[in-house]
Amino acid sequence: MIQNEVLSGLHARRSTRSFQDLQIEPEELDTLLDAAIWAPSGGNNQSWLFTAIQSKEKLLKLNELVKEGYQHWVPDDDYPGKLAMRTASQKEGFSFYYHAPTLIITSNRPNYENAMADCSLALENVFLAAQSIGIGSCYINHLHWLRDDGHVRDFLFELGIPKEHAICSAAAIGYIKKESSPPRRREGTIHIVR
Ligand SMILES: Cc1cc2nc3c(=O)[nH]c(=O)nc-3n(C[C@H](O)[C@H](O)[C@H](O)COP(=O)(O)O)c2cc1C
Repeated sequence: MIQNEVLSGLHARRSTRSFQDLQIEPEELDTLLDAAIWAPSGGNNQSWLFTAIQSKEKLLKLNELVKEGYQHWVPDDDYPGKLAMRTASQKEGFSFYYHAPTLIITSNRPNYENAMADCSLALENVFLAAQSIGIGSCYINHLHWLRDDGHVRDFLFELGIPKEHAICSAAAIGYIKKESSPPRRREGTIHIVR
């Protein structure tokens, strides 16, 4: 197969779940946010909003609201992944963003069909850019799951995210404390018709 710098970075990227207690440099954050806005978007809408939170205090407050939110918004018959999160959220030391020093939240205008697709592509740009400058990252789904929680939404509004916005996804960002090992790639997921 062809090898180059982009492809090597793409293979080397991992979801980081253990971060150093040290903030990334402003230039590094700017680089990641710039990578985000250069992603493709449906019809070139670029209607996304990338909100980077670097205040430890605000992140801890958000974590408390997420913990509370899980008790209200995940019913007993929800799917196993979410139920596991509901259980995990009640444990001592739970941090939905793995205590990362930076959280980038992606949101998009309401009733826009490509909201999630656009924000996800932008986040992959962030992940690959982060990998290329030695920074760890991880996709964080919790705020999307709790997007209808009034307390979470009030606080996100305080942080500048419009009430009507669709909360799409988030990325935990920071220097890596513990490397993640690459999960095996499933076989049989590629189909070529020539
Ligand atoms: C839509 C989506 C949601 C995800 N949500 C979370 C999450 O909330 N927390 C988390 O730790 N990882 C989350 N991940 C990361 C995956 O668990 C991870 O990509 C997968 O295990 C493969 O590992 P890798 O990224 O190191 O290749 C998510 C990934 C995707 C694409």
